[in-house]
Amino acid sequence: MSQKEKFYITTSIPYLNGAPHLGHALEYVQTDVIARYQRLLGKDVFFLTGSDEHGAKIARSADSAKKSPKEFVDAQFDIFQNLLKKLNISNDDFIRTSDQERHWPGAQGLWKKLYDAGDIYKSSYKGLYCVGHEAFITEKDLVDGKCADHKKPPEVVEEENYFFRLSKYAGSIRKAIEAGELQILPQSRKNETLKMLEEAEDVSFSRPSKDISWGVPVPNDASQTMYVWCDALSNYITGVGYGRDAGTFEYRWPADAHVIGKDILRFHALIWPAMLLSAGMMLPKTIFVHGWVNLRGEKMSKSTGNVLDPMDPIAKYGVDAMRFYLINEIPTFGDGDFSPEQFHTVYEGLLVKGIGNLLSRTAKMMSSFPSIQKPLPEAMVRYPFKTSISNIAVSSPSASLEETAPSRWVDRVTEPAYRALLDKYELGEALKKIWELFHMLDQYIEEYKVYKMIKEKPEDAQIALWHIAYALASSAEMLRPFMPETAEKVLTALGVAGIQKDSWSAFKSAESIHLFPRIEKNNESAVN
Ligand code: MSP
Repeated sequence: MSQKEKFYITTSIPYLNGAPHLGHALEYVQTDVIARYQRLLGKDVFFLTGSDEHGAKIARSADSAKKSPKEFVDAQFDIFQNLLKKLNISNDDFIRTSDQERHWPGAQGLWKKLYDAGDIYKSSYKGLYCVGHEAFITEKDLVDGKCADHKKPPEVVEEENYFFRLSKYAGSIRKAIEAGELQILPQSRKNETLKMLEEAEDVSFSRPSKDISWGVPVPNDASQTMYVWCDALSNYITGVGYGRDAGTFEYRWPADAHVIGKDILRFHALIWPAMLLSAGMMLPKTIFVHGWVNLRGEKMSKSTGNVLDPMDPIAKYGVDAMRFYLINEIPTFGDGDFSPEQFHTVYEGLLVKGIGNLLSRTAKMMSSFPSIQKPLPEAMVRYPFKTSISNIAVSSPSASLEETAPSRWVDRVTEPAYRALLDKYELGEALKKIWELFHMLDQYIEEYKVYKMIKEKPEDAQIALWHIAYALASSAEMLRPFMPETAEKVLTALGVAGIQKDSWSAFKSAESIHLFPRIEKNNESAVN
């Protein structure tokens, strides 16, 4: 195995009961940005995603589609695979809970551990089951007799099934969270978890197979099917070999980060850690909880039918525009709106006119020279950032003249700030640092009228152009986790693709550069 530091990251595994939507796309892209960033840091990254294929919700959707559950999930599986590909997601593996070779042995093995620890017991139970949640809910979750989220009445279930002793672990989980061993981001979700822990009760962990047969059988009791969440959560360990490849599991576990949405916090911050503690396994290091992508103010969800196919904006504007929108416009840990109008405005304003214009302008100016050579040290400081610095809140207010030379500024101010933010999982803020730099470069070109210097003072123009090209190429390196294709195009346009940053000695302008073509606003059919 590799000597590098390892980093294991997961997405939640979506139910395959409907087509993927922008909420799924958000989670995939956020996780992908983190995975790609960690790879750039030189870590041995393992990025797992997968699909949650069992339970009543899937069985019923298959039924309405007049398909067997297996046929149904196989068709859905292809659609999700296609989205991962179209979004340029760099997952290393994909685990399906219906996979009887890779997933079942580990899921059943984990159950046995909990059983042997005395944490699984049989009990008769009466409760309200919401199929949308795949969970028992209580009277206080109802509005007019219906589940407040899924707008459907729950089913009254009275049966004998197995329970998991979650309550036993509430204290240990609290301690791990308070000690920072289990980090929950953002702070508000951590507080919410601590509150939920105060009332942690044991959970029903199986259903009679006569009612729910589409799932993993409970070991040593075929009359019961494992509760779909117990089955699904174990993907995080079966996906890295638990139950089939002990060496890989030992190496990869614990997860460094689980990326999830806020509606499934209880399952990940209470039930999952309790299962791991019961099995004597380590807890994940971080649970990263994102918010909602709303469509015109309402949560996008399959149950309400309020969904937008992420393929449409990708087809119209390209994958990197989509990735940019999701990270830049949806607050990393909060809710944000998706609207076709806003998408177009962002595309025009920040991509076509932002990075697109800046690059083509720079390349055009550079084309007056065969190449732009690295200036001598004494010439480096002749064209520093000027007014742009006072216009932008910067982290280094007392920057020296040397630091305000743009190429230095990027290395000493922008990049460290970008890294510090990504290390804290502040994806949107890190991306904004890059656009802050583009804004400074636009101002820089105007301040020194670099386009005029080309004729009037060609020697000096090359110094300024070095700074601009260096800053742009460095930005491309920083853009890699967010917009991998664009990053590569920018580096190619500047003649440094494949060259390590510390060996950049000259930039060369490419012939023609089309980062983000103009797209007609009227042709909205693709995103409506
Ligand atoms: N199958 C479970 C997860 C099991 S993980 C062991 C599930 N599936 S889901 O398809 O309903 O949701 C998958 C992910 O998408 C969850 O993290 C969920 O929070 C997220 N989202 C669902 N709708 C969303 C939005 N509208 N916006 C952002 N994320 C959303 O839950």
